[in-house]
Amino acid sequence: MSRKKFLDIALLILFFVGLSSNFMSARVHEAAGIIFVVGVVAHNFMNASFYKNFLRGKFNRRRALNHATIIFFAASVLALAVSGAALAEYFSAPEMNWRSIHLGAAIASTVALFAHILIHASRYVRGKKFYVASMTAFVLAVGAVFGLPYLDRWFHKVEVNRAEILRGEQLELGGKILIVYFSRVGNTNFPAEVDAVSGASLMVEDKKIIGNAQMIAELVQSVAGGEIFPLQTEKIYPADYGQTVQVAKQEFEGGELPALKNFPAVDAYDKIILIYPLWWHTLPKPVENFLRSCDLRGKKIFPIVTHGGGGFGESLDALKNFTRAEISAPLEIYSSDILSARKIIFDWLKVSAR
Ligand SMILES: Cc1cc2nc3c(=O)[nH]c(=O)nc-3n(C[C@H](O)[C@H](O)[C@H](O)COP(=O)(O)O)c2cc1C
Repeated sequence: MSRKKFLDIALLILFFVGLSSNFMSARVHEAAGIIFVVGVVAHNFMNASFYKNFLRGKFNRRRALNHATIIFFAASVLALAVSGAALAEYFSAPEMNWRSIHLGAAIASTVALFAHILIHASRYVRGKKFYVASMTAFVLAVGAVFGLPYLDRWFHKVEVNRAEILRGEQLELGGKILIVYFSRVGNTNFPAEVDAVSGASLMVEDKKIIGNAQMIAELVQSVAGGEIFPLQTEKIYPADYGQTVQVAKQEFEGGELPALKNFPAVDAYDKIILIYPLWWHTLPKPVENFLRSCDLRGKKIFPIVTHGGGGFGESLDALKNFTRAEISAPLEIYSSDILSARKIIFDWLKVSAR
C-alpha cells in the first residue's frame, strides 16, 4: 500500500474515533483531534501538486465541485481545531459558545469528508458500485447531521466549574424575586457512581449531578439574586433517561398530576422566574400541578424553557392555560448551550424583567 493511501485510511479511522467523543475520555478525544489535524496537514503536503494547479486550466462542473468541497472541508477542519483548542483551554479564548461551534464544525466536516471521498471515488468506481457508494455516503452524512446532536443530548456528560460559570455582572431588577424550577435531577435517585448513569447531557461537578434547569436557576440567581425553590415530586423518576421519557408519556396519556412535596409561598414575591425542561414538546406535568395549585393572580411569570432541540414546543400555550398570572416574554435555552448562557440570561432579564 502506498504511503498516501495508508495516511488516508488512518485519517478516516481517526476521524471516526474523534466523532465518538461521547464514549471516551476528553484526553483521548483531544489526542485523536491533534493527530488528525497533523495528519490533514501531511495529507495536503503529499498532495501539494494539486495546489500548484489550483486555479489553472478549465473548470468543469466536477472540478468546481471538488474545489468548493475542499475549501469547505478546510474551513470546517480549521473551525474544529480552533474550537477544540478553545475548549481544551490551549489559549485564552474570548467568551463564546465553543461547544456548539465544535459540534457544528464536526457536522460540517463529516458532510464535507463524505463529499470529498465521493468525488474522488467517482474516478475509480463507476456504474452500480458508484451508486451504492453515493447512497452509503449520503446516509452516513445525514446520520451525522441528525445523529451527532442526538448523541450529544443523550450521552454527553459535561464537567462543570460552578464558580467560573456563575461569575459575572449583576442586575438590580427591583421587587422580590422567586426562582422556581423543575428538573429531572432532584426527583430521581441516581446511582452513587455518576459514570453508571445513562444521561441526557448531564452536568457533573465533583461527581455530583446538576440538573439543566437547576443550573439555569443558579445562573439567574447569580445575575439577579432572589430565592430558589426546586419543585419536588412525591414520586421518584427512573435514573434511566429513556425510562423517564416513558413515565412522562404515561403521565400525559393518563392525565396524572404528580403530587408535589410542597409549594413556595408565592405571596411574598413580586416576580416569579419559572424554569422547566420541555417534556414531550410541552410543560412537564409536575409544573402544571404547581401552576394549578398556587394562586398566581396578579403575579408576573418569566418563563425559561430548557430543551433538547424542541425550543418552546407547545409549552407556552400550556402555561397560559394553567395559570392566571401574566406571562412575560419567554427565553429558551438548548441544553448544550446552558454553560455559556449567562450573558443571554443577563440580557433577557435586563430587557424583560426590569
Ligand atoms: C421525559 C422527557 C421528555 C423530553 N422531551 C423533550 C422534547 O419533547 N423535546 C426536546 O427538545 N427535549 C426533550 N427532552 C429533553 C429535555 O428537555 C432537556 O434535556 C432538558 O435540558 C433537561 O433538563 P433537566 O436536566 O433539568 O431535567 C425531554 C427530556 C425528558 C426527561
